[in-house]
Amino acid sequence: MPLVTFVLEARSLSHAYGRTAVLHGVSLGVAPGEVVAVAGPSGSGKSTLLHLLGGLDTPTGGEILWGASRVDRLDVEARAGLRASRVGLVFQHHYLLPDLSVLDNVALPALVLGRDARERATELLVRVGLAAKADLLPNALSGGERQRAALARAMLARPAALLADEPTGSLDRVNAENVADMLLDLARTEGAAVLLVTHDERLASKADRTLHLLDGRLVTSGM
Ligand SMILES: Nc1ncnc2c1ncn2[C@@H]1O[C@H](COP(=O)(O)OP(=O)(O)O)[C@@H](O)[C@H]1O
Ligand SMILES: [Mg+2]
Repeated sequence: MPLVTFVLEARSLSHAYGRTAVLHGVSLGVAPGEVVAVAGPSGSGKSTLLHLLGGLDTPTGGEILWGASRVDRLDVEARAGLRASRVGLVFQHHYLLPDLSVLDNVALPALVLGRDARERATELLVRVGLAAKADLLPNALSGGERQRAALARAMLARPAALLADEPTGSLDRVNAENVADMLLDLARTEGAAVLLVTHDERLASKADRTLHLLDGRLVTSGM
């Protein structure tokens, strides 16, 4: 038994798209409060790994755990239900809904569950510096601001883990730095563990630990 219960854990994780194997026996753990970066060149399998750890896809081999829950054994619906309360996701593209205000976008994960989370959403918008833009539509925001709104939305349900796939990949250097710092600051103050996937070594260097993925294999130990 491991000494710590990881918030997120992969055990000998493998994945193939059809006949093309892209992940080969990846094992890693993210401890409570820890920030782990996975760095590697384009095509090395970073997004595949993040999607599997986020429960968005089912691995062809190995195990995924969120705390003590075996996520790979759950069906799609059960996994989605658990994900809503446990895991926040941020991608390179913000995926904000264009016809909803910034505030409603951030509150949306709770609205879907029939809960009014506007107070929590407002608090998060303050934290990411967007309080004054709450009533605007996403297209009135800059690229960096949209990513900050997406970050606030990901944190709405107080997830134990935040998974981010190239969250600064579409931003210029100044905005990238700003969004990265805000993501790490928000996750730390909220007590969320972070798994950050990036090909940007500058971003990876902000993590507590960086794992290197090459051709679907970790070249540094993931534990
Ligand atoms: N849905 C998919 N179907 C088939 N092949 C895919 C799919 N998604 C990714 N791949 C392939 O898997 C490999 C790893 O991709 P990906 O996980 O996106 O890497 P990274 O995020 O490191 O760029 C690449 O060769 C890519 O072409
Ligand atoms: Mg990718």
